[in-house]
Amino acid sequence: MDGNGRGARSHGLKRIEGHKAAEKAIHDSVEYCGSMGVEYLTLYAFSTENWKRPKAEVIFIMTLLKSFIKRNIDNLDRNRVRIKATGRLDDLPQGPLNELLSAMKRTGSNEGLNLILALSYGGRAEITDAMRKIAGKIEAGRMQISDITEESISSSMYLPDVPDPDIIIRTSGEQRLSNFLLWESAYSELYFSDVLWPDFRRKHLEEAFEDYRKRRRRFGDLDSDR
Ligand code: FPP
Repeated sequence: MDGNGRGARSHGLKRIEGHKAAEKAIHDSVEYCGSMGVEYLTLYAFSTENWKRPKAEVIFIMTLLKSFIKRNIDNLDRNRVRIKATGRLDDLPQGPLNELLSAMKRTGSNEGLNLILALSYGGRAEITDAMRKIAGKIEAGRMQISDITEESISSSMYLPDVPDPDIIIRTSGEQRLSNFLLWESAYSELYFSDVLWPDFRRKHLEEAFEDYRKRRRRFGDLDSDR
């Protein structure tokens, strides 16, 4: 969800106003993905690197996270959305963390769209944590070095039951992953939009999906009509 700060600045507003304006784009995305039968939508809301931002902005984002969940939980639950989270959640302040955990509990048995919030998330941190988990098991004698496989690494990630993403969409014209789902994105289709996140609407998501439909995913193999 990139471009909040620039969106606000372009209207002569403070950066934090851009984070507030992000909510409409989140609504549109959740609604559209739900209506299209998308099973998993992950929003990269706060990275492990975002803690380096000025304290006031970090506090603002954390407060916004808490109020976003509070304001939207009834509607999300009514629409059968199941809230999940990925990242170093222990880093989050108590208030937002409790709100998040209670939303996850409340929506845990819903069977609609899985809405995953990536919070204090970093792909390198996730791989590091997975390596520690595996090393701990080896040290305890519950795993052998020969048990380290792509499958056992995948199942040591934060959300092992969530499939790898089919498409990763980055807004605001930047063309990089910025530490997002590094392990899981090996064969994801990448889509870059020039639209800033606060301006990102249903029609932009439709364009991204349309583009995705034209892609031929080979996963290293050849086309079947080779
Ligand atoms: C990126 O734009 C956005 C963020 C780092 C924060 C996003 C957080 C929220 C929208 C609020 C909380 C989350 C939820 C799920 C309600 P940027 O600030 O890097 O923009 P810039 O590149 O234009 O400076």
